[in-house]
Amino acid sequence: MNFLITAIWLMLPAYLPNNFAVILGGGRPIDGGRTFADGHRILGDGKTIRGTIGGILAGISVGLIQNALAPALGLPTFGEGPEVILVLGGLSLGAMLGDIVASFFKRRIGLARGASLFLVDQLDFVFGSWVLTVILAPAWFMERFTPLIIFTALVITPVLHRVTNIIGYRIKAKKEPW
Ligand code: CTP
Ligand code: MG
Repeated sequence: MNFLITAIWLMLPAYLPNNFAVILGGGRPIDGGRTFADGHRILGDGKTIRGTIGGILAGISVGLIQNALAPALGLPTFGEGPEVILVLGGLSLGAMLGDIVASFFKRRIGLARGASLFLVDQLDFVFGSWVLTVILAPAWFMERFTPLIIFTALVITPVLHRVTNIIGYRIKAKKEPW
């Protein structure tokens, strides 16, 4: 049971940017409306500057709050001193970058903005957050993301993603339920 809570706790700064991007998104798309050589949009209207920056800041902010609460709750911290910003930056920025890279490839295979791509939609931000965190704070990552935590995150994230997106769709924050 403990590993489940720990996995969600450690992944929260990677989960939240997506949710906040849905709420805060809109306005100018990152690609500025431009198309790629194949004639399709580079990223599409679903990746906006406001959503991306808002999402990253939300993920880092919540991570800082978690870090302050961690000792009292007996849960892991996101590092010590300057490492905290590398870890939280890695998790939050990495999550948004993973999602953006996935949109780039979705457009390349001709999928319209908002079309679903099974497992890529559910896990792109997970891999993005892990890759950037391994680069920025390898020691922290290796210590915290044990094989059990990694396995748990891979299993629970698609489920949590689906549930939050259905809620997002029902409250009309999201256009599609995936
Ligand atoms: N969003 C945003 N900026 C981001 C990511 C998301 O503004 N970097 C907002 C957009 O309003 C987007 C919504 O959150 O429509 C849902 O995100 P997502 O499902 O990732 O985008 P899709 O619209 O499904 O587009 P894509 O097909 O490119 O995944
Ligand atoms: Mg989508």
